[in-house]
Amino acid sequence: MPQARPMPQPRPEVERLQAYSAPLEGRRGLLRLDFNENTVGPSPGVVEAIRAIPADHYGIYPEYDGLREALIANLAGGCSAGSAGAPGLCPEQIGLFNGVDAAIHAIFHAYGDRGETLLTTSPTFGYYTPCAQMQGMAIEAIPYRLPDFAFPLEEIRRALLGPLGDGRADGDWQPPRLLLICNPNNPTGTRLAPERILELAAAAPATLVVVDELYEAFTGDSVLPLADFAATPNLLVLRSLAKTAGLAGLRMGFAIGAAAVVDRVSRVTGPYDINSFAVTAAFAALADQPYTDAYVAEVLRARDWLVATLRPGPVHLRLPWRPACGRRGSWCVPWRASPRSTAPCG
Ligand SMILES: Cc1ncc(COP(=O)(O)O)c(C=O)c1O
Repeated sequence: MPQARPMPQPRPEVERLQAYSAPLEGRRGLLRLDFNENTVGPSPGVVEAIRAIPADHYGIYPEYDGLREALIANLAGGCSAGSAGAPGLCPEQIGLFNGVDAAIHAIFHAYGDRGETLLTTSPTFGYYTPCAQMQGMAIEAIPYRLPDFAFPLEEIRRALLGPLGDGRADGDWQPPRLLLICNPNNPTGTRLAPERILELAAAAPATLVVVDELYEAFTGDSVLPLADFAATPNLLVLRSLAKTAGLAGLRMGFAIGAAAVVDRVSRVTGPYDINSFAVTAAFAALADQPYTDAYVAEVLRARDWLVATLRPGPVHLRLPWRPACGRRGSWCVPWRASPRSTAPCG
């Protein structure tokens, strides 16, 4: 038997890593509700804009001029039901990414180091963990409170601020390098009032507090209308056109925060990571917010229909705002329409 040739060794963190894989394949044509994909596709304006791309543009590198401004204009218009826009942003505060997944990866690459801690909740979006692991970070994942998946605010606050209660290092304790809050949370639907997130960020200046707002359009719980990135430069907000605008296949995500942080996160991406089709689609999607708003409204109506339809059937509905009743079987956890966790921090 021929001797196996020695192979170059990857970093030990990569050798130990289990690649993030989502159970996506072989389900095209089905409703992949676990992916929260848009079920009707993007605005007709997006389709038209993509069709209008001349073939010679396929052969040249993409340009991003004006896209940051288009996002700012979209946000200023109030980007979703219940959200009052984002005051006073400038283009340097917007990072462009090949989907929010790429933004998350870049954040860990730029800020997460071996031996440092990612603080987050459990269960939450599955990509945070491999990103922390590939950097060699420790993970402190605080469980949502049963029976109603309430946000573990006090536990997060203690883990964030440490034994001295003010985020200063004490003995072996170091503040977490990253706090990741998915709001509303995928998959529990737990909501946390933006004011609480801002309090956490203000109390922990050494920690980059990342708010994954992929689903904020469904609840209106964005920190953006209240955020002052000059006062809390350690706050970074993630938005995507994947779900509500229906561009998941094209990949377009944004990181919004202090210019210096956006700059550091953007340094670890490739120069042309976002392709021309995604750029064209993003301009068209941002220009047609009414289409996205109508889709969000439709999803919210569908949620209510689903709850009403499943209620008499064999599936036990586990409404996050109702106590558990100890039954076995299949469970469905529709995201809550209300309320959200608003208890003051501290
Ligand atoms: C909470 C959350 N964050 C980020 C992502 C990734 O978003 P994108 O498709 O923009 O990469 C997802 C996708 O499922 C998600 O659910």
